[in-house]
Amino acid sequence: MALERAQSASRVYRPEARGLRSAREAVSELTKSPVEDIVLTASTSEAYSYLFKLLCDPGDSVLVPAPSYPLFEHLAELEGVRAVPYRLAYDGAWHVDLGSVRAAVDARTRALVLVSPNNPTGHYTREAELAELARFGLPLISDEVFAPFWLGKPRPLPPRPADCLMFTLDGLSKRAGSPQLKLGWMLVSGPEGARREALSRLELIADTFLSVSTPVQQALPQLLELCPEITEHIARRCRENLAALSQAVRGSAVTLLTPEAGWSAPLHLPRVVSEEELVLGLLRDASVLVQPGWFYDFEDEPYAIVSLLGEPRAFHEGVARLVTHVTRVVDG
Ligand SMILES: Cc1ncc(COP(=O)(O)O)c(C=O)c1O
Repeated sequence: MALERAQSASRVYRPEARGLRSAREAVSELTKSPVEDIVLTASTSEAYSYLFKLLCDPGDSVLVPAPSYPLFEHLAELEGVRAVPYRLAYDGAWHVDLGSVRAAVDARTRALVLVSPNNPTGHYTREAELAELARFGLPLISDEVFAPFWLGKPRPLPPRPADCLMFTLDGLSKRAGSPQLKLGWMLVSGPEGARREALSRLELIADTFLSVSTPVQQALPQLLELCPEITEHIARRCRENLAALSQAVRGSAVTLLTPEAGWSAPLHLPRVVSEEELVLGLLRDASVLVQPGWFYDFEDEPYAIVSLLGEPRAFHEGVARLVTHVTRVVDG
């Protein structure tokens, strides 16, 4: 009966540019934010493209963290926008290099992107950092797709600054482990005038494409009910694999930069050969696939990024081979 009802409801096309109210109400309940401040998109990537259209003219720029998610450059360039990096520094913990933000801001800067927890470093933006970033007076775009996947101590995200226009991005891609469902959302917060204007312009952009399918919107309330279990299952896998990785590298030449959350772990490797050689050697000689640090714009090398999603037995075998390979390379 439920399936029949869903099928016949899907045949009706009554689009709402910001997303079906029933779907936005489900997001509103999850995010504890007003339904009027929510806009649905087909993915987080699409949300970025909407926001770059909203905030930028061709030739403008957005500030993006480095190291971070490698898609920003493409997403920005496809809108005729420049992605200008600001630096995340590591001194035992990751933090924003505010000097690099200051140096990167110019008259064409239109927004600042942050990813919290960041991919692949897995660190959360701290409340004091967010307050400092808000002071630049730029709209903030905060990508929080990995927030529920904490690996150590669960850390609540800092409250959104009231005086700053902010767009918070999330979706089913990570929470439901299902990028193929193609449903994301953005939450607009900040001063009322700026917020309302942004929402009404976003409505026009979304209305131009109407890209979120009706069936997935109709299914969203039930999908969100399933999410906590799926999220916890993925997070548990990542925690177990992280523990195994930490154990495997102990006492070796490989240093784990322990992530607080997310699906990845960065490893700092000894500087005996280039990153490219190490990563290709791992693939060729040990059948272990890792991503090189340059892929995420790490400022020096060699780094390797390990996915924590793997099936545990294969993962254990993979990290054992990684350590053996690196040890062999170090020993010449
Ligand atoms: C930080 C971050 N944001 C967004 C995405 C993509 O999400 P979506 O599938 O919703 O476009 C990814 C994918 O890996 C990601 O790492």
